[in-house]
Amino acid sequence: MLESTAHRTPTSEVLLNGVKLVGNEVEVAWAGGSSPARFSPVWLRDHCHSKESLHPDTLQRQVDTFAIPADIAPAKLEISDGGRTLRIVWKHDGSASILPAAFLWNIAQGEGRERAPHRRLWDRAVIGENFPSVSHAEIMSGDAGLLRWLSTVEEYGFALATGVPATLEATKELVTRIGYVRETIFGGMWDFTANMAFKDTAYTSAAIGPHTDGTYSIDSPGHQLFHCLKFDGSGGDSTLVDGFKVADQIRQSDPMAFEVLSTVKVPAQYLGDGVHLRAEHPVIGLDHNGDLAQIAYNNYDRAPFRLATPRMNAFYRALKLFNQLINDPSNEITMRLEPGTALLFDNWRTLHGRRSYQGFRRLCGAYLNKEDFDSKLRVLRARTREGAH
Ligand SMILES: [Fe+2]
Repeated sequence: MLESTAHRTPTSEVLLNGVKLVGNEVEVAWAGGSSPARFSPVWLRDHCHSKESLHPDTLQRQVDTFAIPADIAPAKLEISDGGRTLRIVWKHDGSASILPAAFLWNIAQGEGRERAPHRRLWDRAVIGENFPSVSHAEIMSGDAGLLRWLSTVEEYGFALATGVPATLEATKELVTRIGYVRETIFGGMWDFTANMAFKDTAYTSAAIGPHTDGTYSIDSPGHQLFHCLKFDGSGGDSTLVDGFKVADQIRQSDPMAFEVLSTVKVPAQYLGDGVHLRAEHPVIGLDHNGDLAQIAYNNYDRAPFRLATPRMNAFYRALKLFNQLINDPSNEITMRLEPGTALLFDNWRTLHGRRSYQGFRRLCGAYLNKEDFDSKLRVLRARTREGAH
């Protein structure tokens, strides 16, 4: 994977200091000497920032994209507003488009796509006994505390909240600081003790190997929160594994297995309780840059599927390697969930499991959608930046 300049942000305001037509592209140059960027005229017309083209309040596109002539060309190119704006007069109708320099700069850096966030991959040795955590009081006190908790989860794939009142109500209040609780076949906020009301191993007291939840869901839950409200017994430690660390290990050590795990879509299903959910995900999902995007692994819920024998064999070999690594004690951390300590983790990255236990355990928790978690992070970061100005 090539290093890109997507994360480069200028230390001072972005200004344009040159514009010219090169072939059928508009080339802009930046003050400060960064490499010039080229844009297509159709794209520039489509992204005009005048209020007739871009709604000033909703930022929704008002341009009639499909009325733009395919051979649109500029009659005049100019830099205005002291380098802050590119102004283009179009040949075909004499209309003018305006594009802010900062907008063009951002597009030029990342093509308008978000890149994978900064992540710290970990194993048992990296984490040790220092589980990343933020206090409930800090999380509930304002944006800064919540941002710190969510950023930590983004960085490590999990973080604890300490000092949470051991009630369902306080746990719900904590979850809804992030976003709304996701409704699933299990309900919204769940609250369970060991019983067999649902046809799922999570509802028994047996050990559960590392997995991600909702492999049978097209949009697997993005995040999950656990809070143990009462425990009277022994065993039952929770286990976590950094799926991205394991994926990275496989990428380095066994590229053929990595190729199989990142391309074969594995069907999964949930059957029972009057529902039949079904979805397909590769075990290792990648984004448009080839960066890690989503781990989807639950061997209990894998649905029958078949590939041509050589590919099938390659799949079983790769799956065995993945299973071996996620069960390797050096990749696993364990923790006892105690009343007062809630665990929030990224279900698209971190695999979770549980040792068997004896006794009574009451655990509550909730799922959140990935998009809602990400949205909250963006909003908090934007607010923090605004506050800093
Ligand atoms: Fe689970």
